[in-house]
Amino acid sequence: MKTIRLFAPSLVLFACGGSTPPPATPAAETAPAQTAASPASLGTFAAQAQAGQELYAKNCAGCHGAHGNDGKAPPVVGLDKGALPLDPPPTAKFRKTQFKTVGDVADFVVKTMPPKAPGSLSADEYFAILAFDLQANGIDLGDKKLDGPLAATLEIPRK
Ligand code: HEC
Repeated sequence: MKTIRLFAPSLVLFACGGSTPPPATPAAETAPAQTAASPASLGTFAAQAQAGQELYAKNCAGCHGAHGNDGKAPPVVGLDKGALPLDPPPTAKFRKTQFKTVGDVADFVVKTMPPKAPGSLSADEYFAILAFDLQANGIDLGDKKLDGPLAATLEIPRK
């Protein structure tokens, strides 16, 4: 009896703790900033970047650092400080390709990252992580969804 009484209120708490589901308005009209991190709902850059934050923390931060520039692996944040250079760093073990566009980075990441399980995430998940990384680098694609064709057109801004 005791367990049930303790359990039931916590269930209620849990159910109320999450964000309130948005009202049933046409999807295109509402900003999906509160969308849960489910790849199926990654319709815009903002939703992707939000989901990507979690995915990055889980799959990449251990080596690249919580902020993308504070890990043992090369930085993925800080384009103005030389992150993601055009040419593979001289010490690169895996990277043989230039990073001209975001698509080049995507190709590299899907084929080699994380090093122990390359290709282990879905395409949507990889692009969510890349959206998060772009956002951390100060890039915002607004209502667009980052995918392969779009990534191929996005030149990496370096100064
Ligand atoms: C076990 C550690 C580890 C994990 C986990 C990991 N990486 Fe890496 N990453 C590396 C190392 C080491 C390199 C350098 C590769 C080389 O020497 O060519 C690298 C290189 C990169 C590069 C290219 C950087 C550059 O300037 O050449 C990108 C982009 C990248 N990783 C993204 C990711 C993403 C996204 C994830 C998560 C899905 C991830 N990595 C997970 C270790 C890791």
